[in-house]
Amino acid sequence: MSESRCLYPGSFDPVTNGHMDIIRRAAGMFDRVVVGVLHNPDKRGCFPVEQRIAMLKKACAGFPNVEITAYGGLLAQMTREMGISTVVRGVRGVGDLESEMTMARINHQLNPGLETVFLPASPETQEISASMVRQLASFGADLSSYVPLQVLPDILAAFHTKDSKEQED
Ligand code: COA
Repeated sequence: MSESRCLYPGSFDPVTNGHMDIIRRAAGMFDRVVVGVLHNPDKRGCFPVEQRIAMLKKACAGFPNVEITAYGGLLAQMTREMGISTVVRGVRGVGDLESEMTMARINHQLNPGLETVFLPASPETQEISASMVRQLASFGADLSSYVPLQVLPDILAAFHTKDSKEQED
């Protein structure tokens, strides 16, 4: 029987416990999970893509069936090239649902072989977002409940460097 695979795409800027909740559950459902760092044209990136990948690799080190990759083009094209027919997305509540359904429909139109599976975010991760993490980090708040502990030093270092640069300017 062929291996079941899914793509979990996102900006991961940076990876949060919300993302990890979905990765952990997808890793239990599929033989292989490809976590894809893709470009969302509506967002101005904060962490360089290479650093997002490095943080994801650290956070996912304990999952042998999870791999991390980046792709600069359309999700529909990426899945076609990789022969993946399932996309997994986390949904935190009704607020996420409308845009997620639109994205799922467009991806299906562009690649009719592609289906999107929605996982409801676990209650303890429902309030987490990458932008909230970045804002808390910029004020030096405790992030330990919101991001995987393995990446905490990287996030703190990035914001510490930014602070030092701003003070020099
Ligand atoms: N729990 C908590 N938070 C969650 C979460 C969960 N389960 N799932 C998502 N989030 C948060 C993220 O932290 C993020 O927060 P932010 O908005 O503050 O950054 C937000 O919800 C959603 O981000 P994420 O899941 O990382 O993805 P995204 O919406 O930024 O990424 C892409 C969307 C990258 C998948 C999409 O833009 C894409 O496919 N791009 C490639 C180009 C393409 O094909 N475009 C056509 C699409 S129709």
